[in-house]
Amino acid sequence: MRNIACIEDLRERARRKVPRAFFDYADAGSYAQETLRANRDDLERIKLRQRVLVDVSSRDLGTTILGAPVSLPLALAPIGLCGMQHGDGEILAARAAHAAGIPFCLSTMSICSIEDVAEATRTPFWFQLYVMRDRGFIGALIERAIAAKCSALVLTVDLQVLGQRHCDIKNGMTVPPQIRLKNVLDIGTKPAWALGILKGKRKTFGNLAGHVRGMEGVTSLAQWTASQFDPSLSWKDVEWVRSRWPGKLILKGILDVEDAKTAAKTGAAAIVVSNHGGRQLDGAPSSISALPKIADAVGADVEVMFDGGIRTGADVVRALALGARSCMIGRAYVYGLGAGGQAGVAKAIEILRNELDVTLALTGTKSVRDIDRRVIAQM
Ligand code: GLV
Repeated sequence: MRNIACIEDLRERARRKVPRAFFDYADAGSYAQETLRANRDDLERIKLRQRVLVDVSSRDLGTTILGAPVSLPLALAPIGLCGMQHGDGEILAARAAHAAGIPFCLSTMSICSIEDVAEATRTPFWFQLYVMRDRGFIGALIERAIAAKCSALVLTVDLQVLGQRHCDIKNGMTVPPQIRLKNVLDIGTKPAWALGILKGKRKTFGNLAGHVRGMEGVTSLAQWTASQFDPSLSWKDVEWVRSRWPGKLILKGILDVEDAKTAAKTGAAAIVVSNHGGRQLDGAPSSISALPKIADAVGADVEVMFDGGIRTGADVVRALALGARSCMIGRAYVYGLGAGGQAGVAKAIEILRNELDVTLALTGTKSVRDIDRRVIAQM
């Protein structure tokens, strides 16, 4: 991990180490990628106030998420196919998160299963749920998350149908990787990745294989989502999930004030302001532009988390200033995982920790809990 100074360096390294189909899958947004770009552009437009001659000799990055202490206001977001960025990717990311004192969230569409991660780690993790047509299976999945002692359930509400990512079609992105000449040649240049995957526990969706029909063969994510995900999902189903899940519930993918108000009435402990990393509704506003209105409307009733384009410690300060209590990082850690497995994820978290610490100092702020709109110079 020498010569790695920032998240973009991890991204460049991951690009060289991970087969193109999987790097692109994580890196891309949907359609023309307008929302993907807006997430970053709008964050960068927010300028921070440089404050001087404030005693910042002791700074505190710790806070709580859902009442649990964390060393940083960050959680690792659920990432589909995380274990295709690096063999056993979910286990490695969970270990790095726990070592850093922040929560890890496992995706329904992970490669390692809930049980694999529970067995390999000691600290409880969060589980992200997609609701599929087969409610019997979803009920069983919730039971598995309960049995694994997952500490929160993150219900994703913005993916009833999949936004198209053009690169997945062009790359023939499938799980497991398709034996096409182009893919084989590409994987041939990434031997460390191939070895990691070969040695890894699983090569396909660990939570689904053997449980859901049609999971046995090679499938494209788009085809599979279209056949399995439930487009009829509604607020009534949130109630259905809540009645089965006794623990803390987080609703992820809220971008509209009206939806946020409804979400706050469901009894969810937190919402995540998110446009799925610019991977779903292209043309939707950036997450950061949606955040202040939502935080003003429901911040007193429900914990507000932010997701969408975090690449620096300054971005974390921007999101906290505009009303988030904490942030999720997705690509920022996925690049680390692709670049260097567990050490790469640890590096990504360390980079953000150091940048956040310096940003606090240079904005004259002593604790992340003190960050509010006063740190913003202009938008
Ligand atoms: C799944 O969550 C995806 O964004 O591909």
